[in-house]
Formats: sequence, C-alpha cells, structure tokens
Amino acid sequence: MNRKNFLKSLIGASAFLSMPYSSYGNNNEAIREMIKDSSRKTDGSMFGFKASPIDKVRVGIIGMGNRGNTLLEMLQWLGENNHCEVAALCDLETKKVDRAKEKLKQWQKVEPKLYSGSENEWKKLAEQDDIDLLLITTPWELHTPMAIYGMNQGKHVASEVPIGYTLTDCWNLIETAERTKRHCIMIENCCYNEEELFVLNMIENNVFGDLTHAEGAYLHDLRAHMLSDDYYQGQWRLKHHIERDGNFYTTHGLGPISFYLNIGRGDTYSHLTSMSSRELNLSQTAKKENSKYTAFKCGDMNTTMIKTELGKTIMLQFDVHTGRPYSRINKVVGTKAVHDGYPSRLYIDSGELVFWGHKWLPEEEYNTYKSKYRHPMIKKLKAISEAFKQGHGGMDFVMMYRLIRCLNKGLPLDINVYDSVMWSAITPLSEISVASKSMSVPFPDFTGGAWKDKNPLEVMREI
Ligand SMILES: NC(=O)c1ccc[n+]([C@@H]2O[C@H](COP(=O)([O-])OP(=O)(O)OC[C@H]3O[C@@H](n4cnc5c(N)ncnc54)[C@H](O)[C@@H]3O)[C@@H](O)[C@H]2O)c1
Repeated sequence: MNRKNFLKSLIGASAFLSMPYSSYGNNNEAIREMIKDSSRKTDGSMFGFKASPIDKVRVGIIGMGNRGNTLLEMLQWLGENNHCEVAALCDLETKKVDRAKEKLKQWQKVEPKLYSGSENEWKKLAEQDDIDLLLITTPWELHTPMAIYGMNQGKHVASEVPIGYTLTDCWNLIETAERTKRHCIMIENCCYNEEELFVLNMIENNVFGDLTHAEGAYLHDLRAHMLSDDYYQGQWRLKHHIERDGNFYTTHGLGPISFYLNIGRGDTYSHLTSMSSRELNLSQTAKKENSKYTAFKCGDMNTTMIKTELGKTIMLQFDVHTGRPYSRINKVVGTKAVHDGYPSRLYIDSGELVFWGHKWLPEEEYNTYKSKYRHPMIKKLKAISEAFKQGHGGMDFVMMYRLIRCLNKGLPLDINVYDSVMWSAITPLSEISVASKSMSVPFPDFTGGAWKDKNPLEVMREI
C-alpha cells in the first residue's frame, strides 16, 4: 500500500483535512493527493446569483464586539433612508447587546430582539422569521458554523474575514450556498478602499496592459491588541498564534489583488508555497508585559507565493508581531504600468527603451490619473461617508452600502461565495505548506470549473 492509500485508509480525506496542519509532517506526495481527493462536486451556480429584491433588508447581527459595533454604525444612513432595519442583536455578553441597542436608538424606533448570555443563543437569532440577512462579526472559528446554520434557516449571510478556517469549512460553505441558493458573502472591506478601487478602475481601462504580478499583505502591529486582556474577547486572536503557523489573515491584501487578476473570472490560483520566519517579536513583548501566554508557533513574518493558472504570480505577506507602520503593499505589475502602495505611487511605462531614470509619476500627473480613474462609486458615496466619518476612511460604509443596496435591488453581490472561500482557503493551505518545509500545495477548484468563464466583476457595476 503506498503512502497515500495508507493515510487514506487510516483516516479518510475529510478527517485528514480536519487534523491540525502542524501535525502533517513531510508526507508531501500523500498530502498533495489528499488535498486533491478532498475536492467535492460544486457547480459554480452562485456566480451571478440574484435573489428576489428585498425592499427593506432586516438585519440580525451576531457578535457586538469591536467590529460588530463599527458595522452597526455603518447602517445608520441606510436605516435612516429606509434601506434596512436592525431586527436583532446577539453577543455572549449582555452588556454588549445593551450598549448596541442604545446606539441603535439614535436612528431606529423599532426595538431589536436581543440575545445574550450563552454560547448558542445566536441560533435563536438565526431562526427568527423576520430576518433577511445575518451579519457575523464573531471570532474566526465561529464564522463557518454560523454562516452555514444561517443559510440553512433561509437567510442570506455576510461574514467577517476570514469566512472559512479549514478546507472542510470551505467546501461546506460552497455546498450549502449552492443547495440553499442564499447569498454567502465575506465582507472584505479593503476591496472598497479608494486606492484599491482607483487601481482596479485603471486596470479595467487597460492602463496597466497585461498583468504579470501582484503583492499584498497584512502588516499591522497587533501586539497591544492581542496581548490586552479584554480587547479581543477572551484573547481569542492570540490563541491562534500559540497553536498555528501560516498566514491567518489573507483577505485584506488578497481580496483586491484577486479582483485585479480576475481570479474566478477567467483565471484562478493554481498552487502555492509558504514560509514563516522565526518568531521573536511577540514572545519578547509578551514576556516584557508579563502576559500569561509567552510561547507562539506563528512566525513573525509569513510569506506565501501563489501562482495562477495563467502564469501570474502573487506574493502575500502576514506579520502582526512586528512594530512598524501599517501596510497592505498593494503592488500590481503590468506590461504598461506599475502601482505600489503605502504611499500610493504610479509608474507609467513610456514604451521607449531607456537605460536610466525610471521614476514614479510626479504628484501632479499622479493626481490627474487619480481623478480620471476615481471609481464612480467613491465619487457617489464620499460625501455621505465623510459626513458620517464612516469606518476605515470610508471603505466600511461603501461596503455596507453596496451589500444592502444590491439586496434591495435583487442584484448579484460584489463578492460571491467562491471569492469568499478562495481568498480564505489560502490560510489552511499556507499552514500545510509551512508545516511541510514549504512544499508546493495545489489549490483545489472550488468553482466546479466555472472560473474559466469570464464572469463580470460586479464591483465595477454602478448601482
Ligand atoms: N474587516 C475589518 O477591517 C475587521 C476589523 C476588525 C475585526 N474584524 C473581524 O471581525 C471579527 C470580530 O473581531 P473583533 O475585533 O470585533 O473581536 P471582538 O472580540 O471584539 O468581538 C467578537 C465578539 O463576538 C462575541 N462572541 C463570541 N462568541 C460568541 C457566541 N458564541 N455567540 C455570540 N457572540 C459571541 C464576543 O463576546 C465578542 O463581543 C473577526 O473575524 C475579525 O477578524 C475585521
């Protein structure tokens, strides 16, 4: 019996994928085969999926911590304009739902139903008849079970990032969305940031020519947040860094890049390789701050390289341990132009061969491009979002506006279940690669082959 069959007979593909990735060891060929074998049949039917229009979207929010509160605030303008209503709020902690209810009173007369006090109260919210959309803003490991339960109750679901946390989660999400015909969106707010939309609009208008490479990241010093006793409820985020190693937060960098590269719309990820540096910064800080947790598996810097079927490459980085300014890199390289983020710079190639002097566009010319290619959605929503100071420089509001208005009008959502799963699946695959000396790991086809179709990029559609 070869190694693959031996492993399979022992545990089966789905159990294998549910094991901690750090225990995989170096059975490289067997692991690659197992990932392929775990693939299930999906039909791609949620590309372009439209549900019946909903005049006023009734929203139930699960998780009233940092993010739940921010997203609640994003609904104020939409609520005041009768596009949605908050029908229910849930959190483990009663004081958090009470606080959110008080906030909601500023713009909504109808009182939401409240659920709190125990781990499974959220199921009652998901079962409530008068809810159209579940907004899930809980710790990572709860996103998939809550989304699946919600869809099975006939609700559309919108989950914070990442929506799936294991490969099994990813397959289950797609199977459920295709079976129940409910929207399942991972609300990746960075896809709605002004800079990313400006770059995307230039790409769509052929300023970049053909793309060859992109780079993205989540480089954010989260030591203070993660080591605090109460910033993340029960220090849930730090606990991932104790147990796991890989890129846990792929989607802020990868979401916008995947739009740039038409992932799921004519191209897809083919395979990846991932490597983590040694860990120093978090443990040194933890010891200095007398944290009760001081040993971490997750390296300070994870770098994952992804190749697409059409031969483009992506470099994705993750580091939340190191003191440094925030960056998502946001680099994209084409045959006619290059963009680099943090700060945003643009290079337009003249087409002439030159030996020296390749320079970023001077400020004035850069600004001409910026205003010519500003995404129409940003032009339309900036005034509202600035008046309300709406979240992460406006992108959180643009995202919630698009979500609610697409549901109002019965339009396909900007980010479908396949995008959501594909961007999230890089996490478990990076963990497998890191645990196996950076071996090349195949990317499963979550779309049932539908990625080959040049499906439209919904985020470019005006509403
Ligand atoms: N997109 C962004 O910019 C962004 C920013 C911050 C956080 N997030 C994401 O939002 C999510 C939440 O992060 P956070 O910073 O708000 O964390 P948090 O700890 O402040 O909030 C999580 C909340 O979920 C509640 N909760 C836990 N288990 C529950 C259960 N069984 N039932 C009901 N409620 C439960 C907790 O009590 C807590 O209030 C994470 O997925 C995170 O990655 C995204």
